Amino acid sequence: MKIKTENSAKKKTNLLCGFVLENSNKVLGLPKFDSNTTSTINQSLKDMEGKLGKLSIIPIPGKKPVQRILLAGIGKKENITEDTIRFVSGKIALKARELKLSEFSIIAPPSYVTESISAVSQIIEGAKMALYKFDKFKTEKIETSPNLTIIISKSNKISKAIKISEIIADGAIFTKSIANLPPNECTPTTLANFAKNMSKKNKMKCSIISEPELKKKGFGGISSVGQGSNNQPKLIILEHSLGRKNEKPIVLVGKAVTFDTGGISLKPGAAMDEMKFDKCGGCTVLGIMKSISELKLPINVVGIVPSVENMPGGESYRPGDIIKLYSGKTAEILNTDAEGRLILADALSYGEKHYSPKTIIDFATLTGACIVALGTNVAAIVSNDEKLTKKIIDSSKRTTEEVWELPLNQDYMDMIKSDVADMKNVGIGRAAGTITAAAFLRNAIEKTPWIHIDIAGVAWTQGATKEKSYNPKGATGFGVRLILDYLQNL
Ligand code: BES
Ligand code: ZN
Ligand code: ZN
Repeated sequence: MKIKTENSAKKKTNLLCGFVLENSNKVLGLPKFDSNTTSTINQSLKDMEGKLGKLSIIPIPGKKPVQRILLAGIGKKENITEDTIRFVSGKIALKARELKLSEFSIIAPPSYVTESISAVSQIIEGAKMALYKFDKFKTEKIETSPNLTIIISKSNKISKAIKISEIIADGAIFTKSIANLPPNECTPTTLANFAKNMSKKNKMKCSIISEPELKKKGFGGISSVGQGSNNQPKLIILEHSLGRKNEKPIVLVGKAVTFDTGGISLKPGAAMDEMKFDKCGGCTVLGIMKSISELKLPINVVGIVPSVENMPGGESYRPGDIIKLYSGKTAEILNTDAEGRLILADALSYGEKHYSPKTIIDFATLTGACIVALGTNVAAIVSNDEKLTKKIIDSSKRTTEEVWELPLNQDYMDMIKSDVADMKNVGIGRAAGTITAAAFLRNAIEKTPWIHIDIAGVAWTQGATKEKSYNPKGATGFGVRLILDYLQNL
């Protein structure tokens, strides 16, 4: 999808879209048309009432520059959020594709509805993300991606905002496109190769640690979880270094279990296929790193992605095993399905030890309990730092990638104490499953401000996921827009 701007809405276009506030009886920014067309528009306005997400198409007969007008409801002015234009823009883009158009135009809303830079970002993110389709394995690919013209007065600021939004949307789409891959087509090695290729294109440093080095270097969590699979584990490390030489980096860590069967503590069969999405945390980190490098952000960021496949087999780790993590601490394994915290703990300790970062952020589809607690539209955050938490919540509000904080105090830390090792990899029964998992991660970090984002409910669309035009079925890329906002506002 190509994106450009025009100053005037009177240019030639297949589809001219304008936003309509609820019961306002006018299309924002629409130029005057002849009286016949105007009366049809007015009739349509009455019928659709500007209700949020409602679309109404008006064909214009004859050989006119504008072939169709599309009215797009955005609801009541007081209910407009950071997500409204993104959501409606996604709907418009899907309509343009359904009509098999090669191009469509959207009139940017006036600033009393949404401030113009933010409106442009929302239009682009909504349209681009909505048009992404996971059709890699479909023999017939019929659907095209129409180009978009945004009607807005041109300025340097607008051109810059367009570029930035395109890069951000592309980061999220990159994340979705790897996260959607089936487990037979995406092993830890595949993921490492994706990271290598992406980093080469974007001039980032990329290193991969494989077996037997992982074991030799003390990555007991990654090695143990990975030992049950023929697909060898990998630790992927990306470095973006456009900050000052001595500036401490931000470390991003993401869980990438390319398939989580549960291992010897085998998961039930129902919906096990969805565990291909257990790599979403790692994919989020790769998408963020891609965008950071394309945006040339003047900061230092390290992306660390521990990747394994969790399989049952003769070589698998078992319940009862005691393993040694990268931190030197020991962990008693009581459930091989609680594998994410083991590989993350290694990666977090490695990140802290090698980079002395100023901040560590991790993403993981870590616990089913997170879905029980918060459902499928809100991610859980757990942190050891109030300031960092506040900043992430601010970014969450701006990007509508929703988060909710859960507490982490000593009582929770005590719940993962083991009789025979330093920690056990499960809490007490099902109590506070998301927090006890975070408590395990907390033990991997000594002193760095850290925030853990459990994306189990939000990383892909599930039964209870709220329908969003820009998140078609499958992986959502959750976290990419959130963290890019955070990094841009540092
Ligand atoms: N990958 C799962 C968590 C998960 C489950 C995410 C369903 C999204 C949807 C994780 O590895 C896991 O299995 N966690 C266990 C932990 C338990 C054994 C302590 C869980 O949540 O049941
Ligand atoms: Zn698991
Ligand atoms: Zn898992």
